[in-house]
Amino acid sequence: MRSFIVAGNWKMNKTLEEGVALVRDVLARFDQPPPGPVVFAVPFPFLQAIGALVRERPGFYLAAQNCHHEEKGAYTGEVSADMLVSVGAQYVIVGHSERRQYFRESHEQLAKKVDLALSRGLTPIFCCGEPLSVRERGNHVPYVARQLRASLFHLPEADLSRLVIAYEPVWAIGTGKTATAAQAQEMHAALRSLLARRYSPEVAQAIPILYGGSCNAQNAPDLFQQPDVDGGLIGGASLKAEEFAAIIRAMRR
Ligand code: PGA
Repeated sequence: MRSFIVAGNWKMNKTLEEGVALVRDVLARFDQPPPGPVVFAVPFPFLQAIGALVRERPGFYLAAQNCHHEEKGAYTGEVSADMLVSVGAQYVIVGHSERRQYFRESHEQLAKKVDLALSRGLTPIFCCGEPLSVRERGNHVPYVARQLRASLFHLPEADLSRLVIAYEPVWAIGTGKTATAAQAQEMHAALRSLLARRYSPEVAQAIPILYGGSCNAQNAPDLFQQPDVDGGLIGGASLKAEEFAAIIRAMRR
């Protein structure tokens, strides 16, 4: 059975001191390991410190929010997959809509990032999702399917099965407008059937598909009840310990 995952994406928020306090506060709320993996996707400068906190705690993991698509070299200001591994990251977010939009990351670059992350043993959390105009035209499923095809479908099945996918409708991110549980389920089921057709029903069943976009402690239980929603990628609500802990507790298994 695929795992249920909750990942907190801090984006460009918190100082190191605040971030350490937040993670300590979240961890203090759990005596037992969480029902499924909980991932903290923190800014690069915090990776080591947060990694040291979660390392001792079964069920809690460390992620970066991005990595460069080349292995190494003259890319001032960039961070490589090897660097992430060397500081203890286990996951990396790839293709968040903010990276696609503000940093013009292309399908090809994202494909390279996925390859590189997998080759280094990192689990990519591959983000996909449509803008509002696309949803209003009713083209959301083909649009997101194209994102998967363009950046993932070159992978052999054994590699694809090591991915996590996060469906994040762009119109729901940071806006307070969550997709309804039915909208999320529709997309997740469509993506799973696309994976089943391109690969196999087994691999499609094995891949966790997370929902992201204004997911919070109130709406998480409803979203997480959907049969094809396997957890969440949480932005704003992951910045508050009590709320993030409540979302973790809403995991189904
Ligand atoms: P949000 O962000 O929960 O603040 O909408 C989610 C994300 O962008 O990963």
